[in-house]
Amino acid sequence: MINILDKKFTPLISREVIESRIAQIAAEITKDYEGSCPLFIVVLNGAFLFASELVKRTALSCEITFIRLASYSKTMSTGSVREIIGLDDNITGRDIIIIEDIVDTGLTMAQLVKQIENLNPASVAIATLLHKPDALKTPIEIRYTGFDIENKFVVGYGLDYDGLGRNLDALYVLA
Ligand code: IMP
Ligand code: MG
Repeated sequence: MINILDKKFTPLISREVIESRIAQIAAEITKDYEGSCPLFIVVLNGAFLFASELVKRTALSCEITFIRLASYSKTMSTGSVREIIGLDDNITGRDIIIIEDIVDTGLTMAQLVKQIENLNPASVAIATLLHKPDALKTPIEIRYTGFDIENKFVVGYGLDYDGLGRNLDALYVLA
């Protein structure tokens, strides 16, 4: 059991299990993208640990870039509109692999994929460490998933609770 601010969390997935699963995904990506030079787009902040573990085990010629998603005050009926900060790389004609920490409702990812597709890439695939299938609100095709988890709040391995817990080397779930 660990405490972060007012909440208690219990261990969910150990570092060893996380890292062996990431190694499997890296091997799949290495096979699937043989002969291509994909561009990994890492969604900050949460995906930083997953991304570093994944890309260092991927035996490909590749490029890596980082973005943030900022909600701006203008909202539409569908909810908050999110703007991509930092995407100045040339996407056109590239094989894109988005690296995300978690797909929860999927709304963030759906918007991101749409915005990247507008830049005419050759392909777009999603790699997410975690996925909560029961929370999904919009259909989304995820090519690489580390773990499907229950619809409960988790921290660690890059994911935070109010800014804290990202440095934990394993995943914890709200007790
Ligand atoms: P979505 O648009 O609902 O899929 O939101 C995804 C984003 O919400 C992720 O990129 C995370 O930053 C955050 N998030 C969703 N679930 C959790 C969780 O259990 N722990 C920490 N952050 C989460
Ligand atoms: Mg995130």
